[in-house]
Amino acid sequence: MSDSNQSEFIYPSQAVIDQANVSDYEALYNYSVTDREGFWAEQADTLSWYKKWDSVLDESNAPFYKWFDGGSINIVDNAIDRHLKNANRNKMAIIWEGENGQVRNFSYNGLNREVCQFANVLKSMGVVKGDIVTIYMPQIPELVFAMLACAKIGAIHSVVYGGFSTEALASRIDDAHSRVLITADGGWRRGKQIDLKSIANDAMSRSPSVEVCICVKNNELDVEMEPSRDFWLHDLKALPIASPKCETEQTSSEDPLFILYTSGTTGSPKGMVHTHGGYAVYTSTTHRMAFDIKPEDRWWCAADPGWITGHSYIVYGPLINGATIMLYEGAPNYPYPNRWWQIVEKYGINILYTSPTAIRGLMRFGERWPQKHDLTSLRLLGSVGEPINPEAWKWYHKVIGQERCPIIDTWWQTETGGFMICPLPITPLKPGSATKPFFGNEITIVDDDGEEVGAGEEGKLIINNPWPGMARTVFKDDQRYQDLYWSKVGDKWRYLAGDSAKKDSDGYIWVIGRMDEVLKVSGYRLGTAEIESALISHPAVNEAAAIGLPHELKGNAIHTYVILKQGMVGDQKLAAELRAHVGHEMGKIATPESVEFVESLPKTRSGKIMRRVLKARALGQDEGDLSTLEE
Ligand code: PRX
Repeated sequence: MSDSNQSEFIYPSQAVIDQANVSDYEALYNYSVTDREGFWAEQADTLSWYKKWDSVLDESNAPFYKWFDGGSINIVDNAIDRHLKNANRNKMAIIWEGENGQVRNFSYNGLNREVCQFANVLKSMGVVKGDIVTIYMPQIPELVFAMLACAKIGAIHSVVYGGFSTEALASRIDDAHSRVLITADGGWRRGKQIDLKSIANDAMSRSPSVEVCICVKNNELDVEMEPSRDFWLHDLKALPIASPKCETEQTSSEDPLFILYTSGTTGSPKGMVHTHGGYAVYTSTTHRMAFDIKPEDRWWCAADPGWITGHSYIVYGPLINGATIMLYEGAPNYPYPNRWWQIVEKYGINILYTSPTAIRGLMRFGERWPQKHDLTSLRLLGSVGEPINPEAWKWYHKVIGQERCPIIDTWWQTETGGFMICPLPITPLKPGSATKPFFGNEITIVDDDGEEVGAGEEGKLIINNPWPGMARTVFKDDQRYQDLYWSKVGDKWRYLAGDSAKKDSDGYIWVIGRMDEVLKVSGYRLGTAEIESALISHPAVNEAAAIGLPHELKGNAIHTYVILKQGMVGDQKLAAELRAHVGHEMGKIATPESVEFVESLPKTRSGKIMRRVLKARALGQDEGDLSTLEE
């Protein structure tokens, strides 16, 4: 880290400071870490509870912490029901625009009617509290309705990103053992219809647990429906059972709200389990404080609801805070690179939250596209998903934010549920740093022995405390959760994030990237293990390894090494076929950039592929310690 990074402060304007929800970070931070339970109890008090908690934090079975235990709450009571009793009732909750220009708006009252109907449909299909419903949908309002409908009746949703494909969907349905799948005939992307239902059909043929498939009609695709299993949502909504009134289930604070699968160091994706109580408190508090949410705000988190960013900051946090949320189905540059800026102007968006990849992608078209539009409604800008390079940060700040809007760079993970490191609008910024811990969190950077490293030195990012939004476990695998994330030092548990980072002499944190076998491709999190097993499922492949190499737009691109079965010839045609095969099994985002045919792979004596050696070789760097390399 150069000294210039440390000195390069960008200060918020007086206008931003004057209207900030939190005016003194240091004072509130000190209070939040000295009296963590007091701080979180105050935040929890802003929500609606059927019954208040017995204890704020229960550490008796650490690292399996419980928050607000004994309390009774439903996140939907907070995200919808309570707004119906006040002026928010007729306020816009969701503005949706499809890629083809179609617009659908829902007030909080309208949203409630949709969610109640959907919840009654689920009930009529036998869904009860505790059931896991898998959702595989494009970015349409019904995706949000489906999630909220599950939560409303105490069912657990497991959303699989609509860009994933057959095997990725099938393995997630299988792990959750879902009896009900909610999908759509298709989605739109760059003027093309994406055929989701046939992917869902293939996945269901591999996952026998699904007995009921509810399908939303979203385009004109002619899809195959299996008569006793598949139902159109609009047919079910027309039945008397689907009334627009439905009682919200009183769930306990610690009842699971959703499972979201994410890639880890090894093996199959992990189903991270989040709960009704702590997650509601954490997502709403982080959203309100970091993004200074005001009642009149139009908030646009341009992520897909199928990832944690969408769960926490399209759906739950913003709706609990009574914001108006923007949802857009299509690509940022379709039909032209001004599509997003057009949306900002048309709807008067106040806060835009997106990824460095999207910013870099739009930046390459130049300033003339945003300059065609009036972007003066924007007050704050956000970034998430991967480190933001200072060049993209500065472009976002200057061209989009017109040097008026602070950039809220938020570091967090599927596992954390919400922001862990981020500035507030009043924080002096340094381009490329997510700045300081969010309230209640103590974050240190440590070496391999667990000792804190000095200022400017690289190490492992550690969280030293529990927080309400933390995932409670890996679905069906408590041991894996404890082993993967937690270690005990003395009598204190610490959470290992899997990222490397530095803290500079001002206490600003600079996240560098993943230390494990997780790849961040365009901000999407993919596991090398899943990409490799997709390759191995091709009949020509014997063994495979995947690594990420730096890519100007995507952050990282996937490069693969393949050992073929005897007698197979590795030529360009087969390489193209293997790339397409991974795309078919996993989804387009996982399509490798390259496939290289090799005779052997560097492995440890215990047979583990040494991906860091492959990476060093590809980059022409020193291969490091090779003492564990097999002969
Ligand atoms: O490596 C970090 C990176 O994304 C990882 C978490 O990925 P996922 O669970 O998919 O959640 C993404 C959305 C929260 C982290 O371990 N990451 C996320 N945000 C940032 C980031 N890296 C640097 N800066 C960020 N702001």
